[in-house]
Amino acid sequence: MKITSSYKKFEPFTYRSLSDLKKKIKELRLDIPIYSKVEILKERVKIENKFIPNRLAIQPMEGFDSNIDGAPSELTFRRYKRYAKGGAGLIWFEATAISDNCRSNQHQLVLSENNSKQFKSLVSITRERCNQTLKNLGLEGQCFLILQLNHSGRYSRREGKKYPVRTYHNSELDNAINVSKKEGSIISDMELEMIEDLWVEKAILASEIGFDGVDIKSCHGYLISELLCSRVRKNSKYGGQSLENRTRLLLNIFKRLKKELTDKTNFLMTTRLGVYNGIPYPNGFGVKSEKNENFPASIDLLEPLELIKKLYNFGLRLINISAGNPHYKPHITRPYDTPVKGGNLASEHPLYSVNRIIKLVSLIKQQLPEDMVVIGSGYSYLRQYAGYIAASLIHEKKVDICGFGRMAFANPNFPRQIFQDGIIDKNEVCITCSKCSELMKLEKNAGCVVRDPQYQI
Ligand SMILES: Cc1cc2nc3c(=O)[nH]c(=O)nc-3n(C[C@H](O)[C@H](O)[C@H](O)COP(=O)(O)O)c2cc1C
Repeated sequence: MKITSSYKKFEPFTYRSLSDLKKKIKELRLDIPIYSKVEILKERVKIENKFIPNRLAIQPMEGFDSNIDGAPSELTFRRYKRYAKGGAGLIWFEATAISDNCRSNQHQLVLSENNSKQFKSLVSITRERCNQTLKNLGLEGQCFLILQLNHSGRYSRREGKKYPVRTYHNSELDNAINVSKKEGSIISDMELEMIEDLWVEKAILASEIGFDGVDIKSCHGYLISELLCSRVRKNSKYGGQSLENRTRLLLNIFKRLKKELTDKTNFLMTTRLGVYNGIPYPNGFGVKSEKNENFPASIDLLEPLELIKKLYNFGLRLINISAGNPHYKPHITRPYDTPVKGGNLASEHPLYSVNRIIKLVSLIKQQLPEDMVVIGSGYSYLRQYAGYIAASLIHEKKVDICGFGRMAFANPNFPRQIFQDGIIDKNEVCITCSKCSELMKLEKNAGCVVRDPQYQI
């Protein structure tokens, strides 16, 4: 994908019809297919000996509304009940911290023995309502519930203050969140070994609670995804040029979970993997190993593919692909029309950013065995037309399931609207105003300020 000047020009979303959007896609010479048939989205997807009942998913979205001890609050229950009524076959629960001291916000969910009862109840209510919705919609099968477990790494907070737990120094990433080199720490190999134990322990707890699977989060610049980029980390078995070192923590967790859990049960291990972050070599992942490149660096998926193939050998059959570091350059992860207050407009056309993430997912999918189920994201920018594009991508075998993040905040009924009306209600769509991210920055409960009166800035 060569960037020409037209790709670089930002333009907001003004497409009043599908043909307007098609015209712009053609003008920008992007590879975003659009037919208007959406039936394929109702199809179930086989995953090992189970089925995901349809091809629409809710992506993990932190609501930062937990109780102080990390347990889901009434507001958390409200969010998941709304998702459950929407009709998506797969709900990917938000980033949940593996311990109190690696939360990114004092209201981020934390999974612990002490609050497992509340999580159990959240899972059972979500499951019951989601299955009822599927039945009412005439869709066969049981919903799938995955929990994303995370260590916030560089984006951790302790006692209400930023406390970056870095795997290596990177002044540009520090500047992006306004912290100095002196704040926080560089995590030691010994601490990483302890984190491995904790991650395994919490994944086992997630299976006991009743989730169908667990995601060992490896995207968006948090601990594991930062390790993937830690080429300049010296004298460490978790860093340096060797991919084996940089992937050690993730692979060890998978290896142990295979032995201790998934070989004995039906429980699923998965990961949301950031396959490309655009950060120039040597600090990027999924980028060409060429010096002097500017952001966003050229794509090279050799390392991500090598990692995914190893994970496949440990039993990975479902992968959620993402990209970018939203704390640094958010448009790579979530293309938008309006930046967060004080942020910048993207230095490229938002449809080009959508095209990039679609392309990354399809390049990965092409290289994987047929029985690997691939989930894509970044579709909310496409507003009411998103269902058409999701269906077309699935038709063209560029992705298996399309997951929606901001759209689910704005309009949790989007799957039902696509299944029943063929299109999402244009008056209820996400307008990519970044207010949900702004709420997150302000450490308030995150949700849709535009469509849901529960949330205000
Ligand atoms: C407020 C907010 C919270 C998010 N929380 C998570 C999260 O917990 N885990 C995660 O992997 N991604 C998270 N994301 C990223 C989304 O899952 C998704 O990748 C991104 O918004 C792009 O998809 P979309 O265009 O459908 O919104 C979050 C994004 C936003 C705006």
